Amino acid sequence: MSVAVYDAGTIGGESSWAGAGMLAPGGETDSVSEFARSLVASNALYPSFVEELTAESGAPIDFRRCGALEFTDTEEEWRSLVARAEIQRQLGIRSEIRRPGELFYPDDAVVDPRDVVRALRIACQRLGVEIREGEPVWALRAERGAILDPRPAAFAILAAGAWSSSIPVSVDGEAQQLVRSVPVRGHLVSYDLEKDAAGPVLRKGATYIVQRSNGLTIGGSTHEHVGFDRSVNPVIVADIERRLARLLPRLASTPRASAWLGFRPFTENGEAQTGRLRSSPVYLAYGHYRNGILLAPWIGKTLAEVIASSQTGSISPAAYR
Ligand code: GLY
Repeated sequence: MSVAVYDAGTIGGESSWAGAGMLAPGGETDSVSEFARSLVASNALYPSFVEELTAESGAPIDFRRCGALEFTDTEEEWRSLVARAEIQRQLGIRSEIRRPGELFYPDDAVVDPRDVVRALRIACQRLGVEIREGEPVWALRAERGAILDPRPAAFAILAAGAWSSSIPVSVDGEAQQLVRSVPVRGHLVSYDLEKDAAGPVLRKGATYIVQRSNGLTIGGSTHEHVGFDRSVNPVIVADIERRLARLLPRLASTPRASAWLGFRPFTENGEAQTGRLRSSPVYLAYGHYRNGILLAPWIGKTLAEVIASSQTGSISPAAYR
């Protein structure tokens, strides 16, 4: 197939650039659902995804199956974490009690999403994909089984993250009601530490610490419904730093290297949109919220299979919760 990628900004320049890269079915699932199964499936695909992408691009990707340690403070939090781990076992998510209050997830991992995007870009260019940056798609129009706008094509995939539903889609002259995409802002901070200082991913509730192989240590986060406000809020940053220092006490005396934010692509009904828009030539890949980086190989593989075999219907109308 010949493929063109349109991006209003730069490829992977929004949430893929901002994300910490925690690949954590263990931290993201508390029920047995299709969505949860796709997280586990994508985590299993990651090593071969990284290997293939590195081979195709020649670009290194920082990927470590370092596991994650999850902490609790109270007896009640601990009981609920152990109960969650029981449910997760039905999905094949392994965990082990390190000591009361601490659960270890050996299969959770970390990837640098900026490495993934860089490698994807090179691999795509080598395969002849036309990359059109700084070119917003103002409308997606399909007529009689093919795409007409923004250019004639057999099909199109709408994957514009938190902006997805702001692109009007019409099929045979009828405006389509897409599930509304909603940005959920998250702040992150980083510190320069020596390699291996943080060990596995550290988590407690909404607070987490992830370390890159070069020592860069990233901590987050927040869940803010504030639209697309890009101003980094120093009060929020200070609160995250306090939470991080409780997880890794040496951070209390380590100067912060930087702070930034990103817009998680959530949806108004909490359902990830992955699959075909009715029987049209429009496919959807948005609303993966906290798990877009983790789900990338699964979404790519599954959508490619569905498109290649021209099946109809949605492939995973799965709710986030
Ligand atoms: N995946 C972690 C987050 O969205 O904060």
